Amino acid sequence: EMLEKGGYEHFMLKEIFEQPRSIRDCMRGRIYPEEGKVQLGGIKDYTEKFKNADRIIIVACGTSWHAGLVGEYLIEEYARIPVEVEYASEFRYRNPIISEKDIVIAISQSGETADTMAAIELAKERGATIFGVCNVVGASIPRLTHAGVYTHAGPEIGVASTKAFTAQVTVLTLMAFYMAQTKGTITQSKLISLLIELEKIPDLIERTLLSNDYILGIAEKFKDSRNALFLGRGSGFPVALEGALKLKEISYIHAEGYPAAEMKHGPIALIDEEMPVVVIATKTSSYEKVISNIQEVKARKGVVIAIVTEGDTEVKNMADYVIEIPHADEAFLPLLATIPLQLLSYHIAVLRGCNVDQPRNLAKSVTVE
Ligand code: G6P
Repeated sequence: EMLEKGGYEHFMLKEIFEQPRSIRDCMRGRIYPEEGKVQLGGIKDYTEKFKNADRIIIVACGTSWHAGLVGEYLIEEYARIPVEVEYASEFRYRNPIISEKDIVIAISQSGETADTMAAIELAKERGATIFGVCNVVGASIPRLTHAGVYTHAGPEIGVASTKAFTAQVTVLTLMAFYMAQTKGTITQSKLISLLIELEKIPDLIERTLLSNDYILGIAEKFKDSRNALFLGRGSGFPVALEGALKLKEISYIHAEGYPAAEMKHGPIALIDEEMPVVVIATKTSSYEKVISNIQEVKARKGVVIAIVTEGDTEVKNMADYVIEIPHADEAFLPLLATIPLQLLSYHIAVLRGCNVDQPRNLAKSVTVE
């Protein structure tokens, strides 16, 4: 088993460290930065569909649903198609309004999740076109869908999803760019510059992983926390949700992810010196707003752990701990900001003596309702 873990103590840690490679694999043969071109063989016969699509409905569960939320930001921003993101389990029982001009994107690592399969079947009956974003080749969902794009992250053993999530986000980024290119909602020069950056993301993740020991040090300080709050804005919000989910799944610490601005409508009441607040505070268009949210937390004696852009000084002066990630276009923030949160949860869980690869009560794939 040690051999399978490639010298890492747990599959989860191995899979976290595999991400530069898994994302490279996911992009291979699909992006041509010099030409400013994205190629997605799996959905190439459906260009007319998304040129005419009224909207895209993303259905998924768990971590895959978080990837869907990132997809919403990207597809709306670049391809200008309205997107709704639905929990498959809710969608399937709601008598949803679906037309033949809708595209449903089902995201699933395993390709076997019962609720996601039922949501696909329902949408299919009602005439929608279904795309799959799956990791396991030949699983049930890829067989149920009309077309799709595999994530090619390789087998994921740890129950808490890590490399599959970043690969899903990568595929959704490629889909957003592909749709934008086809619909003409992005200029060629913008696409070239984005693809040049995207190609370098695996290197930037490698650099982010160098903070592992430093993050272990932070984990030592928070291993006995009973609660944690994760805040982000824009596409930093799904990153916050995913950070909170990782922590609760494997360390059993109660954690919540919130859009930073919503804090004042509830979670702010929970903040005291016992409450670690992890804030995605990178240099994006909402940077200044996030800074005021950090001030609100500090004013109530909360402990702030901020994910910041390399070289940041403003947040550094306010936060109790900062973890730097390399600068990148806002479109790629989720791919980078997720990495330190995965490591933080991992180390906290290990320090608490939890079984990180097989957390209690959870299954890798949920094939029953
Ligand atoms: C389970 C797993 C999660 C996963 C979710 C959806 O809850 O423990 O890691 O995100 O199912 O699974 P899927 O295979 O559809 O992505």
